[in-house]
Amino acid sequence: MKKQMRLDKYLAQMSIGTRSQVKQMVRKGQVCVNGTVVKKPEYKVDPDQDQVVADGVKTQYVHEEYIMLNKPSGVVSATKDPREKTVLDLIDGQKRKDLFPAGRLDKDTEGLLLLTSDGELAHRLLSPKKHVDKTYYARIQGRVTNEDVKVFLKGLDIGDEKPALPAVLQVLIEGEISEILITIQEGRFHQVKRMFKAVDKKVVYLKRISMGSLVLDETLMPGQYRNLTEEEIQRLKEEQNE
Ligand code: URA
Repeated sequence: MKKQMRLDKYLAQMSIGTRSQVKQMVRKGQVCVNGTVVKKPEYKVDPDQDQVVADGVKTQYVHEEYIMLNKPSGVVSATKDPREKTVLDLIDGQKRKDLFPAGRLDKDTEGLLLLTSDGELAHRLLSPKKHVDKTYYARIQGRVTNEDVKVFLKGLDIGDEKPALPAVLQVLIEGEISEILITIQEGRFHQVKRMFKAVDKKVVYLKRISMGSLVLDETLMPGQYRNLTEEEIQRLKEEQNE
């Protein structure tokens, strides 16, 4: 299928200017498509086929980026930070300037983080209305029991206005340090840590292993990343449309 997009959107995505700046440029006749001046910002271009020249400079379309990062502990989930190392600092050869982390993991949390330039997909993945499942592996100081499993399933008061939505807790190892898997549907601040705090236990290690259909590639060591496959991208997009 031929993928077409508005000329002003194309120019803005290629960082030629803000959406309103590029609209002005187009209206003033400063943009050519395949050798012809186009004055309509809504004009449709095929980013792979059409030759777009803005102010005499040839442009080349760079497609959306979708990167799976195994976030290491010690970096913050932000695009920039005055003091801390960010997840974007880990990415060499970033193609799109508008790459950003879709959601946040705490500085000391490891695991799956999607970095993308696709604002629409990120918005849908993170929307509280969508209830996208997020599964974490954690080590917990204290015995996690079947009682906790029941309490988590009911929806736990973690000190917010509303209780947390029901979460599925699976105890892998019950001991002084327990090992668990937990699936939550929200992304509240420090949510997993606060849920365990509410039952008088402490998360000592936390790693996200999946988000919707996207599962952390276990061959990625902390700090390593790879592009999503076409199949992973399609699956994420499709499940968001359901
Ligand atoms: N819950 C937390 O407490 N921290 C995270 O980083 C993610 C979920």
